[in-house]
Amino acid sequence: MYHATIPPIVHHHGYRSQQGAHPRRGVDYRGKIVLAPMVRSGELPSRLVALKYGADLVWGPETVDRSMIGTTRRVNDATGTIEWTRQPSNGQKAPPEHATESTIYKMHPAKEGEKLIFQMGTSDPERAVACARLVAADVAGIDVNAGYKLCAILEALVRDIVPEFEIGISVKIRILDTAAETETLVRRLCATGITGLTVHCRTTPMRPRERAIRGQLRMIADVCREAGVACLMNGDVTNRDEGLKLAEEFGVDGAMIATAAEKNPSCFRSQADGGLAPWREAVEEYVKLAMEVENKYGNTKFLLANMVPGKQVLHGPITQCRSHTQVCQHLDFSHLLEKARAADMALELGEFARAPRKKDKKANAAALAAGGNMAQARKASKTTDNKLAQPNRLAQPAQAAQTETSLPVAEPPLQPAVAASSM
Ligand SMILES: Cc1cc2nc3c(=O)[nH]c(=O)nc-3n(C[C@H](O)[C@H](O)[C@H](O)COP(=O)(O)O)c2cc1C
Repeated sequence: MYHATIPPIVHHHGYRSQQGAHPRRGVDYRGKIVLAPMVRSGELPSRLVALKYGADLVWGPETVDRSMIGTTRRVNDATGTIEWTRQPSNGQKAPPEHATESTIYKMHPAKEGEKLIFQMGTSDPERAVACARLVAADVAGIDVNAGYKLCAILEALVRDIVPEFEIGISVKIRILDTAAETETLVRRLCATGITGLTVHCRTTPMRPRERAIRGQLRMIADVCREAGVACLMNGDVTNRDEGLKLAEEFGVDGAMIATAAEKNPSCFRSQADGGLAPWREAVEEYVKLAMEVENKYGNTKFLLANMVPGKQVLHGPITQCRSHTQVCQHLDFSHLLEKARAADMALELGEFARAPRKKDKKANAAALAAGGNMAQARKASKTTDNKLAQPNRLAQPAQAAQTETSLPVAEPPLQPAVAASSM
């Protein structure tokens, strides 16, 4: 526990922090059960629904520094959100004629600002600081997904971001093969001046379905406590009550939940407050929030496919719905139909969809293929695929991140398809 009399730690770079003290605007991870960073599954409505059901803090999906740098911060008055957007260059000098801005990161300051941790994928201290500067005034903390030059990155963030923005810096790692290796790493990380450390209790080669290994946890918790760094455990925690019990058992400060929250975010509700809600209730809350914040429809549908059970009966048709109106009709949420129409209008879905543009190569490819002209269709779709393969893949932060954070300690962000199939 924190005592005001504990002497300050002097970090390698000279920054002094009081053990256990937290920057003024920062959040203390101790005693918290939190939503894990999840590419695709941790977008704004997923975070809001987790908070609604009692998550204490929420991590945003890993966002690659390069994709954030160069974005413009915009306030969306209609939804009450802040969006960091940019022109999708797709490697071209001049943006395509009809290009709409890509949203790289979106948050809701009133509903999550004080509880949101921005997770960054980075391999360079300078870029990390440049990226952090863009969001630091709007979020409650910055987390780094382990990767190359990790200590140098954390030190740069502690030096350049903490004093100015008064929020904490934290890190998320996986365990290494031996406890001795993990201990060395954790000691080095704790000496950088971070305020929090999350350990995913799997080694990098372990698959998500393999049971988490908790043998090293007590040691990690001890090292963190000695340094005044809050320690969260992650891996196979399925609900709030279990998280609190496990935290006590292993001496850590709290727990982080990913897969269980992706499936049913009411896992953050304690048994005393009602426990896990039936899937329909959680799905309704999610759909309402997704429509309110005008979430990308493809993302909403992806999440629904995870949350709605019974692949044959319901899951199949959901993926075929083309609008919120259809989703709400399909799920018998007739009381939400008015909101659904408003969201469809804002996002130009269903009856409000715009006719496909003539120059849309993807549409052309599909049309050609449908008409039986496969050679031309292949040519058209190849042009589109090549564009997507450019390094600046704004719409695919997870893939971009994967190429950058591949040290043994790294938490490899899952490709959406892998993530989906691993549930
Ligand atoms: C769909 C999905 C996306 C993920 N994306 C990230 C990410 O962006 N950053 C990260 O550090 N971990 C990511 N992870 C890993 C989780 O945060 C977590 O460490 C892992 O799933 C173990 O927790 P669990 O056993 O509760 O699922 C992702 C996991 C899933 C399932």
